Amino acid sequence: MIHLHNVTKSYRQDERSVLACDVTDLRIEKGEQVALVGRSGTGKTTLLHVLAGILRPDTGEVEIAGQRIDTMSEPQRDRFRGQHIGMVYQTFNLLQPFTAYENVMLGALFGRGAGHAAEARGKELLARVGLSDRMHHRPSELSVGQVQRVAICRALVNDPEVILMDEPLGNQDRTTGAQVLDLLLQLAHEGGKTVVMVTHDPDSALRMQRTVDLATLRRASS
Ligand SMILES: Nc1ncnc2c1ncn2[C@@H]1O[C@H](COP(=O)(O)OP(=O)(O)OP(=O)(O)O)[C@@H](O)[C@H]1O
Ligand SMILES: [Mg+2]
Repeated sequence: MIHLHNVTKSYRQDERSVLACDVTDLRIEKGEQVALVGRSGTGKTTLLHVLAGILRPDTGEVEIAGQRIDTMSEPQRDRFRGQHIGMVYQTFNLLQPFTAYENVMLGALFGRGAGHAAEARGKELLARVGLSDRMHHRPSELSVGQVQRVAICRALVNDPEVILMDEPLGNQDRTTGAQVLDLLLQLAHEGGKTVVMVTHDPDSALRMQRTVDLATLRRASS
């Protein structure tokens, strides 16, 4: 389902270059639920952005759902992401002028379209993360943990095959975090979804089928 081979991504700043992502080989099977761990600054977000097609790698091959996304143009990658990938950003990236419900429905626009089925699914997801009574609030009128749950609903509304999440539970209290993770894993399991979740929380990592430490993916020399 996901295969990376010799992938590198550097950020250039002035004369200097920072090697942020270096993965010799990573395979994730369809339906697998993987925790991605590693210290701050080791490139977890960069790797998720490469997987989502937001960043194009400098070298290497990235195959997702049978398609090589490293050779696609940016518009092709955007379309691919809309159709196949649900992404929860570390910084949430909700649009401020829109309500929680509208933000969730924006996730549907780039995928299979915002018909009645998507509207019902959006409302159901918001209800399942405990936000029925906050649907018509704007992000600035929600707590950080509530915004995070809206971002999770936006990622799931298209029923994507691949779910990429960058510390999606970082701002939840233990009980809410466990409930949202239960929901995520249940939906993933029901739909045979492939999940890659960045987390610093050992308990959340243990709930996944496998843990991948970014440090072990780098070439031995670096
Ligand atoms: N836009 C950028 N320009 C230059 N360097 C960057 C940029 N974004 C990230 N970096 C650098 O790339 C490295 C990897 O960053 P990344 O955000 O992928 O780490 P991370 O593992 O997600 O960290 P955290 O756990 O703190 O979220 C870091 O050293 C960071 O300073
Ligand atoms: Mg990060």
